[in-house]
Amino acid sequence: LLVDKGNHRHFMAKEIYEQPEVVSHTLAHYIDMSEGLVRLPGDLPFDLADLKRITICACGTAYYAGLVGKYWFEKYARLPVDIDVASEFRYREVPLEPGGLAIFISQSGETADTLASLRYCSSEGQHILSIVNVQESSIARESETSFPTLAGPEIGVASTKAFTCQLAALACLAVAAGRQRGVLAEDDERKLVQALIEVPRLMSQALKLEPRIEALAKELSRARDVLYLGRGLNFPIALEGALKLKEISYIHAEGYAAGELKHGPIALIDEEVPVIVVAPSDTLFEKTISNMQEVAARGGRIVLLTDAEGAQAAGDQPFETLVLPQMYQFVQPLVYALPVQLIAYHTAVFMGTDVDQPRNLAKSVTVE
Ligand code: G6P
Repeated sequence: LLVDKGNHRHFMAKEIYEQPEVVSHTLAHYIDMSEGLVRLPGDLPFDLADLKRITICACGTAYYAGLVGKYWFEKYARLPVDIDVASEFRYREVPLEPGGLAIFISQSGETADTLASLRYCSSEGQHILSIVNVQESSIARESETSFPTLAGPEIGVASTKAFTCQLAALACLAVAAGRQRGVLAEDDERKLVQALIEVPRLMSQALKLEPRIEALAKELSRARDVLYLGRGLNFPIALEGALKLKEISYIHAEGYAAGELKHGPIALIDEEVPVIVVAPSDTLFEKTISNMQEVAARGGRIVLLTDAEGAQAAGDQPFETLVLPQMYQFVQPLVYALPVQLIAYHTAVFMGTDVDQPRNLAKSVTVE
């Protein structure tokens, strides 16, 4: 299979820009577009209505997709979710009630720890569902049900388009679960599905922030540490932002739940540490603003990713603000992932690193 960079300088840039299209393909695989309702691409060998618990396992970026999934399943399907990185899960000797559902998320479908966790859950009598990008992979083959992401081949070592396609599949699964469990009415489902259908367009709009992000990245490339903050559904996006930055720019970065700021990371804040806050206007926005004020009071440089309403509510602060379109809370992580990827990408380009093949990292970790 021959894949080229098109007009882009790196595969990673090409893959970031492919997201409106591949997420659209993935959504079309899980949604009946004429009905405006979710339609899963295969029958499940169990009833979502009967589930008591979900276990999610994955590594790296796929794990952060799972973390967003946890928030979705809890909120929209009222299903308890246990999630862990596969390298921990496989040795935790987790007791699992037979008949539960275990979900494994993997771009390659070959990550050794994820596969080992799958085999463990299988021996514990769990239903095994995987969300994979490589259809003929080991994880897909060993699953009872394997749902695809239609991201196409991902070449850049740092995952981008596979992540948002994983989110698209998980979002649909959470809506299906919510509906079958009677948490969502048909009308609720239609609204959520409509919000998903708008995602590719919102993503294209978010990509227009690139020139501003490029200017910002020049500054970030001089930082030694960068802190990312987010709450709720956007907490995993803060974690993913930090992971992307360290993977490809080699700048130390940490993602934190905004509310945990005062339990540690605030001690690091001074004029030298940029703080990137992922905070669309939502029910938790006010709380995040007060976290930002604590950072600003210590001279920290803040970059706020928000929408017009959020920018207005934040007021006249010494913030650098990147304004994204307004959108339904449910889909925010899918769209906010893009500026966060672009920040890492452009910072790495300024640093002159090997963006597509960062040092010491492998695309797929098939050994422990
Ligand atoms: C490696 C890659 C990451 C990826 C992780 C999990 O660390 O560099 O981009 O998120 O493995 O890989 P998987 O193929 O299981 O999604």
